[in-house]
Amino acid sequence: MFSLLRGSNCSRLTAHRLGWSTPSPTSSSPVGDGSFGVSAPKPSIFNEFALKDRVGIVSGANRGLGLEMALALCELGAKIYAIDLPSTPSDDFKTVANYVKAMGEGRKLEYISGDVTDQLAIRAEVEKIGTNEGRFDVCIAAAGVLGPTIPTLEFGTEEFDKVLAVNVKGVLHTAQAAGRQMVRFGKGGSIIMIASASGTVVNRDHEWIAYNTSKSAVLQLARNMAADFGPQRIRVNTISPGYIYTKMTAAALEAQPELHERWASANPLGRLGLPEELRGVAAWLAGDSSAYCTGSDILVCGGHTVW
Ligand SMILES: NC(=O)c1ccc[n+]([C@@H]2O[C@H](COP(=O)([O-])OP(=O)(O)OC[C@H]3O[C@@H](n4cnc5c(N)ncnc54)[C@H](O)[C@@H]3O)[C@@H](O)[C@H]2O)c1
Repeated sequence: MFSLLRGSNCSRLTAHRLGWSTPSPTSSSPVGDGSFGVSAPKPSIFNEFALKDRVGIVSGANRGLGLEMALALCELGAKIYAIDLPSTPSDDFKTVANYVKAMGEGRKLEYISGDVTDQLAIRAEVEKIGTNEGRFDVCIAAAGVLGPTIPTLEFGTEEFDKVLAVNVKGVLHTAQAAGRQMVRFGKGGSIIMIASASGTVVNRDHEWIAYNTSKSAVLQLARNMAADFGPQRIRVNTISPGYIYTKMTAAALEAQPELHERWASANPLGRLGLPEELRGVAAWLAGDSSAYCTGSDILVCGGHTVW
């Protein structure tokens, strides 16, 4: 709103809407009929989403939601480093990276092989990015594992630890590494953690206690970091997707095709989500249009949690 009021053609109309001044239509500026003088008004909202020259990381971006969100940030102009386990990137990743390169204008999508459970290694990689690029602005911690399906009374401590190591400690390490660079450059930043609707409600008829617990922990991790980093203008928010069709969910769907109908009917929109339906919210949280948003969780789940 304040940017709207800064000297644009819209400012008079906005001020009028807010009751701060009375527009005075003239022959060259007949506000009353929807025209704004000789030149058409320029929308400024797109500038608030622009990420030109911003630098960041997306963990788990070799595929799935991470790759989709990394592409969204690159389309907006960012230079993004994807961190994921395989020693070389997937064909999907290479296709997206080439697409980003072809868009040009400083955009970049590079692959780094790394394991988010290794705190010091991730910290060192992210520090290198900061040193090479001379800035650090955005982080999406998307790396995650579903873990095994085991009845709660049987769930072993080792299996439980493995899920928490990636989904909780891995997110902590990723956000910490990014936060250190954001503090280093002193220009604030945006950290986005991919939690899950499973952090708020339990997936009916699925024995995923470690996963659900880990995603709940991510919600509190984000609120805690939002409180810690607010004074440095580093914002920390979570996105909580519902059932989205990716390789993670495809494995379960292929084993039990009847799940498709069960999952679709568990939300008012009556369908599974698509990875690209996370692009807008990731772009919004990464950029300046969400500048007053921190410590929030955004559910993107087709309304899964309303019932
Ligand atoms: N797909 C869904 O329905 C859904 C719903 C809610 C939340 N999520 C969350 O979204 C995120 C992305 O999920 P997705 O569906 O794209 O899954 P995915 O399995 O397609 O992608 C996850 C990525 O994380 C990477 N990864 C796993 N362990 C890692 C580690 N130790 N270090 C670095 N990278 C590692 C994997 O290699 C993979 O590329 C996860 O955190 C997941 O829990 C997914």
